[in-house]
Amino acid sequence: MLHLPRRPRRNRRTAAIREMTQETSLSLSSLIFPLFVLEGTGVKSEVKSMPGIYRFSLDTLLEEIREVADLGIQAICLFPNYSEDKKDKRATESYREDTLYLNALKEIKDKFPDLTLMTDIAMDPYSSDGHDGYVENGEIVNDVSVEILGKMALAQAKAGADILGPSDMMDGRVGYIRNFLDGEGHTNVSIMSYTAKYASAFYGPFRDALDSAPRFGDKKTYQMSPANAREALVEAQLDFDEGADFLMVKPALPYLDIIKMLHDNFDIPIAAYNVSGEYAMIKAAAQNGWIEGERAMLESLMSIRRAGAKAILTYFAKEFALAQNG
Ligand code: PBG
Repeated sequence: MLHLPRRPRRNRRTAAIREMTQETSLSLSSLIFPLFVLEGTGVKSEVKSMPGIYRFSLDTLLEEIREVADLGIQAICLFPNYSEDKKDKRATESYREDTLYLNALKEIKDKFPDLTLMTDIAMDPYSSDGHDGYVENGEIVNDVSVEILGKMALAQAKAGADILGPSDMMDGRVGYIRNFLDGEGHTNVSIMSYTAKYASAFYGPFRDALDSAPRFGDKKTYQMSPANAREALVEAQLDFDEGADFLMVKPALPYLDIIKMLHDNFDIPIAAYNVSGEYAMIKAAAQNGWIEGERAMLESLMSIRRAGAKAILTYFAKEFALAQNG
């Protein structure tokens, strides 16, 4: 017999002891379910690269929201899919009155007043260039973009959004949006800033869902380089100073170190976006019988929580809720 005063296995001996000593917990209240809306009625079309995830017209979307709310999901984030004819250089469809997206937000808030409704602020779903900002001579022009994002933010706040999610990575947009909203009396609308959003290959399936891939070039002049960590502290300090209520890291799993770093350095809630490609990988492997999908999902979400994210945007939210209910 070895003489070992400390045997860590004792704390793993029974299920009850394991639960008692569990350091991190994962609950539905942390999850935000992203949903896609498109024109039409009676539409429910599956995103090919995201099995189990659909694009809904407003009528079927409301049914889906009823279902997920009944499962206990308390927060959703809505993204729009627009046809090419609605897109232009200045993304004017994003703040015009009476549009698909803004009407959907109003309707959702009206029918589900207690549901936390998050939005996306960026030009790409509405931009004929497929970029998050305004393009001139092949360049993404920061300050012109920020003004457009401000109009978008105000329109979404008026439509009933609880949390705005600027995903564009332009400089100064959080402060500009905060000021603009406050000036219009929307002091209660929160901002969850995409603080450290990396130029990532893992957004591919999402761009399929929205038909929003950039028409030229890539997003490297505004999204961060996967090689950089300390730069995320600069972004985080700016967003914190500019009034963000949450700091988000995106994608999640390849950037757990960044989540942890922001968590250790800032005293506001940290969020993470478990993006489309992260979802697609687990789904594809599970469909091939190569991994156990549900266990891989739970392990991934737990690791994101453990790294320090309080809120997690994830396409797995409904599946997690179903697993918990069943
Ligand atoms: C665009 C936006 C993207 C995502 C959310 N907002 C893609 C991109 O930057 O090209 C990605 C989400 C996902 O992959 O799940 N503003």
